Amino acid sequence: MVSFKSLIVLCSAAVAFAAPAANVTVDARGTDAAQITIYNSATGYVGNNYYSLWEQVNSGVTMNINNGQYSLSWNQASQNVVGGIGWNPGSAHTINYSGSFNPNGQNAYLSLYGWTTGPLVEYYICENFGSYNPSTGLQHLGTVYSDGSNYDIYKTTRVNAPSIQGTATFGQYWSVRQNKRTGGTITIGNHFNAWKNLGMNLGQHNYQILATEGYQSYGSSSISVSG
Ligand SMILES: *[C@@H]1O[C@H](CO)[C@@H](O)[C@H](O)[C@H]1NC(C)=O
Ligand SMILES: *[C@@H]1O[C@H](CO)[C@@H](O)[C@H](O)[C@H]1NC(C)=O
Repeated sequence: MVSFKSLIVLCSAAVAFAAPAANVTVDARGTDAAQITIYNSATGYVGNNYYSLWEQVNSGVTMNINNGQYSLSWNQASQNVVGGIGWNPGSAHTINYSGSFNPNGQNAYLSLYGWTTGPLVEYYICENFGSYNPSTGLQHLGTVYSDGSNYDIYKTTRVNAPSIQGTATFGQYWSVRQNKRTGGTITIGNHFNAWKNLGMNLGQHNYQILATEGYQSYGSSSISVSG
């Protein structure tokens, strides 16, 4: 979940995101024909992919998941939503993705998103975003060229924030693509290596998804992944 520092300045309401952990509703692992539709926070497997949907408020979201593909529509009722499909555990593999991302010029991101433990880290390889650059106000540490563009690398510390281990203080790492896009190859290892060279260490991999995130916005995405 994003820190939204400048939004916190703009909005008097405190932004306190709940943990992305959620309950498992469906386990259709390895079932090629599997297809589910979910509306509330949940995690599980469909086909060959892990999925995670987290909503700050369980309202306003519809997520359809097929084997290797999802579509998500959201509106402001969820406050903050992060949903996608991918892998558990994540790794430094190379993935492809394609599809559409429609943030309607509002606050939303499309990212390869994941977590590690020991150290606890939340990371984003951000491919596209709407009205708000999620790196705003974060510490810029360098750039890495990968898959046809430079990405700007940022790090921040989230203090007493929601995490996959409950409320905790942890590192949040970012690579933000300069030449924004929806679709292509992500050589995840290039980012992990660049982060490591900057002292941004990862731990043991937890889940990793090609995520759509919306914050007080409405929009839709439809994304296929392989890798
Ligand atoms: C499961 O999720 C629902 C809504 O998504 C929530 O109300 C419920 O408390 C959750 N149950 C557990 C055991 O986490
Ligand atoms: C990704 O796309 C490239 C180029 O089309 C292809 O060579 C590669 O096998 C694909 N990898 C995956 C994991 O789909």
